[in-house]
Amino acid sequence: MTSLWMVVNVLVLQVPPPAPVDYARHVAPILSRHCVSCHRAGQVGPFPLDTYADARAKARTIAAVTASRYMPPWKASQLAGAELAGERRLTAAEIGVLKRWAATGAGAGPALALPPTAAPVGGWELGEPDLVLEMTEPFAVAAEGDDVYQCFVIPVSLPTFRWVRAFEFVPGSRRVVHHALFFLDRSGTARQRDAAEPGPGYRCFGLPGFLPTASLGGWSPGNGAYEMPAGVALPLRKSVDLVLQVHYHTTGAADSDRSRLGLYFATKPPTRSIFDVALASREIDIPAGDRAYRVRDGITLPVAVDLMGVIPHAHYLARQMRGWAIFPDGRRRNLLEILDWDFNWQQNYRYLRPIRLPAETRLEMEFVYDNSEQNPRNPSRPPRRVVWGPETTDEMAGLHFQVIPADPADGTELAQTLWGKLIRFIRAGGLGHTGTQNEAARPPQP
Ligand code: HEC
Repeated sequence: MTSLWMVVNVLVLQVPPPAPVDYARHVAPILSRHCVSCHRAGQVGPFPLDTYADARAKARTIAAVTASRYMPPWKASQLAGAELAGERRLTAAEIGVLKRWAATGAGAGPALALPPTAAPVGGWELGEPDLVLEMTEPFAVAAEGDDVYQCFVIPVSLPTFRWVRAFEFVPGSRRVVHHALFFLDRSGTARQRDAAEPGPGYRCFGLPGFLPTASLGGWSPGNGAYEMPAGVALPLRKSVDLVLQVHYHTTGAADSDRSRLGLYFATKPPTRSIFDVALASREIDIPAGDRAYRVRDGITLPVAVDLMGVIPHAHYLARQMRGWAIFPDGRRRNLLEILDWDFNWQQNYRYLRPIRLPAETRLEMEFVYDNSEQNPRNPSRPPRRVVWGPETTDEMAGLHFQVIPADPADGTELAQTLWGKLIRFIRAGGLGHTGTQNEAARPPQP
């Protein structure tokens, strides 16, 4: 008995009591590194977190949203050998600090230890752009209501054809702009859509409403200027429409936005081309109530490439997304995993280091959809059958890998393979706007 008591005693004495956690020394450094870029005056976060009073008032919520990893917003899992650039992720120790701080009274600590507040944002990061494309008129964002997906047409008119090597998107109002995508349209369709709707731009959830001639990229809070990899540049015709697709969220106060995209031109034509390897499927027909509907696609790469980035796309029912490579020797490398997809937190992911994929590597993807009532993001209550289409209540499946052929001479062969895949997709009806409109025309499910 005595000996057991002594053992217990020794154990208790040896475990040091948890060190007290305070705002100034422990919490403020975490918040300023991972949260304040969005949570301060004039930014997208719904409230500031850059003073003790602000953080203290939210201490319990901060502990909860970081423990669940809802904040900071970053949906991709950490994968060995496929590290992503600009990852926003708290360590388990940091989450523990925030939890203990909330649980022990959220104390202030020594005032002198307070870190300086983050530097204000302003100015172009790469200097004055060669061309600034600005929304032609301001767009009013209501105080309340659902998020808005709006497309704005900005005509480009240049004396000559140009190559774009870098860009920076500057939101007009950082409070309401949640993210933005940039497309080029030569067809005039976006103009027509714009003209057909009153006010600036037109509603465009998901796709911009036309088959883009090209995509220039995208922006989400926390991102600055983007420079393409060395030797890469994207073509910009002298006369084309830039279409800005902007996701706005409401903040409780009416706001107005006039965003700008600054472009930087290359002085020389590119020596390398970047290709979009799209794994996609339109064979989507999800029965009401199905909790784990799967969609797959794959392609075998004819030539060696360097994988630069990946862009996933689906709507509200998608829950999990996986993309992976199977090397010619049979080894598998996971390239993207999202276990809690959130349409409102879309992101263009870039790899920290390019990943070499030898010729005959197979790229594959699988998306899992939850069309039950248990999916809190299901837009239909009760759930209804959902098929492929562009509307909020339709679904899509796209995983876009950005690759550069290891040997520039291989570009043509890669382009041919991708073209063949696109043709098969179009034959399957992939670019037509089906979805809800022609659901009645489709045969009922067996
Ligand atoms: C990239 C921008 C960004 C970063 C970084 C960020 N937040 Fe947020 N946060 C938001 C936005 C936007 C919302 C509003 C809800 C939404 O859109 O998901 C939000 C919502 C919240 C909420 C309210 C959640 C609720 O359910 O009402 C809390 C609390 C929060 N953030 C805390 C944090 C903390 C703590 C960090 C750092 C560990 C952080 N955020 C990092 C943008 C950000």
